[in-house]
Amino acid sequence: MHQTTQISLHENVQFIYELVLAQMELRAAGVRFEVNDNLRSFTTNGGVDSDALLHRSAYVMSLQLPHQPPQFTDYHYIQQYNRTQSINQYLTHWFYPYKGKFHPQMIRALLGIMGLGPGDVVLDPFIGSGTTAVEAQLLGIDCIGVDASPLCCLISRVKTHSWAHLDEIEAASEYVAPCVENVQQQRLFRTAEDREFPEGPVKDFFDLAEMIARSDNSRRRRDPVEAFVSNRDRMLASVRDHQTVRERLALQFGEVEVRCADARSLELADESVDGIVTSPPYSVALNYVKNDEHALEAMGFDIDEIGEEFIGVRGRGKERFELYDQDMRRCAREMKRVLKPGAMAAVVIGNMTYKGEEIDTTGMFTDACEQAGLILERSVDKIIFGLYNVMQKEYILLFRNPQR
Ligand SMILES: C[S@@+](CC[C@H](N)C(=O)[O-])C[C@H]1O[C@@H](n2cnc3c(N)ncnc32)[C@H](O)[C@@H]1O
Repeated sequence: MHQTTQISLHENVQFIYELVLAQMELRAAGVRFEVNDNLRSFTTNGGVDSDALLHRSAYVMSLQLPHQPPQFTDYHYIQQYNRTQSINQYLTHWFYPYKGKFHPQMIRALLGIMGLGPGDVVLDPFIGSGTTAVEAQLLGIDCIGVDASPLCCLISRVKTHSWAHLDEIEAASEYVAPCVENVQQQRLFRTAEDREFPEGPVKDFFDLAEMIARSDNSRRRRDPVEAFVSNRDRMLASVRDHQTVRERLALQFGEVEVRCADARSLELADESVDGIVTSPPYSVALNYVKNDEHALEAMGFDIDEIGEEFIGVRGRGKERFELYDQDMRRCAREMKRVLKPGAMAAVVIGNMTYKGEEIDTTGMFTDACEQAGLILERSVDKIIFGLYNVMQKEYILLFRNPQR
């Protein structure tokens, strides 16, 4: 006879889509449950694989057997390693104020719902600021992240690779000093002996600290040198947290490979990935090249040249949407090609607005995926919070690559 277990969700769970994903997560973990009146807790009389839930769940905060203290999930602890005011910017997620970041908790849930675990490979062909990579890594899932933007590749690398090089980064911090007299020039910092860092995680770390400082300066007029020093120290603390979480929870981190490449032609073998989690560029609504111009230029890139590779930036007026549609159809065919039979792709996407008119980019991309041979199994509505967002609503689309 099984004992009744109470399953409670995190206190920050507040949206309908989160309750839907929480229930999908429980079902994917094989839990049969009844929803309690408060909607945020569940009762189960069935055998619960508590280990799986405790180590992998995103929305569950705790499990409790009668007359026992609650057992808290790994995620409950992970979330607490947060150096920001924002609940979802824990560990290294906060590095760089990138617009259009995924909600990390949602990504952790989607990875579970898709049945991915250690040894599997997840692809995000539009890795952006690396949210999928950080969450996959924490769950022991290997991740391949692709992005056309060298800045996004840098952010994703630093967020996921720095923990393994913390000693070297800390040692290098000793001789990295702000370059006070020539802030307008290429570099914000220099090494004591003016030696160059070789390409790699240490150089990446300081490059990103500089890009965050430049962003703080251009958006908030913050003194760049002061911003560089405080960001570097806060980043170091977060990387230390990343290491601590790994040790404290005995996590086996997944491998992360970041490729600066084009999602329209992926250099990956057919049927080589176990899942895809992504959100396509909204460049027609949000021009990523313009948005990160200051950082891309400081990194030495030609904005016009880079723009050619970006989906949604090319063309004028309505022609932009035609080019966008063509490009996204190529991406959908690539996603289908690299996905193993039976595997799933989760796509978070919203409709764009052009001159006050809503363009059904969600429908366009759904059609592109279906034409490519993927099957839409589920669509979950997801509202977006915040006055300044370019969209009010997104959809979480779950596709499956049919078995042969
Ligand atoms: C919506 S953002 C992804 C945000 C990401 N989910 C996150 O959490 O930060 C879409 C990304 O697509 C990238 N992108 C645009 N054109 C691309 C292309 N041709 N190939 C790969 N990535 C591209 C942009 O640089 C941008 O980072």
